[in-house]
Amino acid sequence: MSDQTLFTLIREGDTITILDQTRLPFETVTRTLDCIEDVETAIKTMQVRGAPLIGITAAYGVAMALGEAACDSLVVDAVDTMLATRPTAVNLKHAMRRMHQRLLRSRLDQRQNAAWQEADAMFYEDVNANRAIGQHGVTLLKEIYERTGKPVRVMTHCNAGWLATVAWGTALAPVYLALEQNIPVEVWVSETRPRNQGLLTAWELSRAGIPHTLIADNAAGALIANGQVDCVLVGADRIAANGDTANKVGTYLKALAAHAAGVPFWVAAPINTFDTSCDTGKDIPIEERDGDEVRTVQGENGSAHIADTDMRVFNPAFDVTPASLITGFINERGIVLADKLEEHMEHAEVV
Ligand code: MRU
Repeated sequence: MSDQTLFTLIREGDTITILDQTRLPFETVTRTLDCIEDVETAIKTMQVRGAPLIGITAAYGVAMALGEAACDSLVVDAVDTMLATRPTAVNLKHAMRRMHQRLLRSRLDQRQNAAWQEADAMFYEDVNANRAIGQHGVTLLKEIYERTGKPVRVMTHCNAGWLATVAWGTALAPVYLALEQNIPVEVWVSETRPRNQGLLTAWELSRAGIPHTLIADNAAGALIANGQVDCVLVGADRIAANGDTANKVGTYLKALAAHAAGVPFWVAAPINTFDTSCDTGKDIPIEERDGDEVRTVQGENGSAHIADTDMRVFNPAFDVTPASLITGFINERGIVLADKLEEHMEHAEVV
């Protein structure tokens, strides 16, 4: 990554400081969180967002909730509070299971320390996993560049860049690695209504000096069909055992368009985004968010209503792309084609 002057989350003693993503791309505001209630609000309101970052932030939230001697029920309450913040990204569930196991194994007077240590471990593991995803994924971009001799035209959706993780991102990690390796890449950035996470992606890419073009979500299908996209690269919030993938709402439409046009559709996500307890995408809970996200648009000077306040709204935050539309998965261990996923997962340990 070319720019590390900003961070998504940094620990300072027994507090964490986050970059408030609800204020981006207009202003860079940091917030210091020092109690589990602050962390709960930050995750629910999407000041921090993105599957990996949600899990790690919640782990710090648990650490903040524990006093010097934390009984089992305090641990369980803290874990449950964090689990209730957002339902779809399974990284949160894995992170909470890990905290629960580690803390209940620790002596009462050592639990607080153990909680900070475990959260720190997840923080550093995320950096390494994402860098590895980038290293594997960039080989796909390199292959396209060597074949076409032209800048690689990647389409992405939502934000699966460093803002959604501790560093590098998942879907954007190969793009950042391409920059390091002088492989020219141009990114189609889909706006991603209603929360406009595409603007976060555009902001990241601007700061890194990577050419990109913002499009309305509805422009994606024709671009793919007209041969203006070499591959689609997205992140994931939860991947079922059969490869069905939940990601930001709108991902499915891009996958349909890519499949129809024969354009590769890759999902980049660490192993802890897999959930083998879900057989298929039908088992993945899809978060429904407040209708005001659709009734309004957010701008630099606040929000503006575009629909009556009593307009009936359905606002699912995610959709599920069936494995049959996915070319393959890029994780920290390598690249696996969608039809080989089940075999691959037998050898991958999901914490
Ligand atoms: O609602 P969000 O902004 O948390 O949703 C984020 C996404 O859907 C991302 O694509 C996904 O979490 C992967 S982030 C590396």
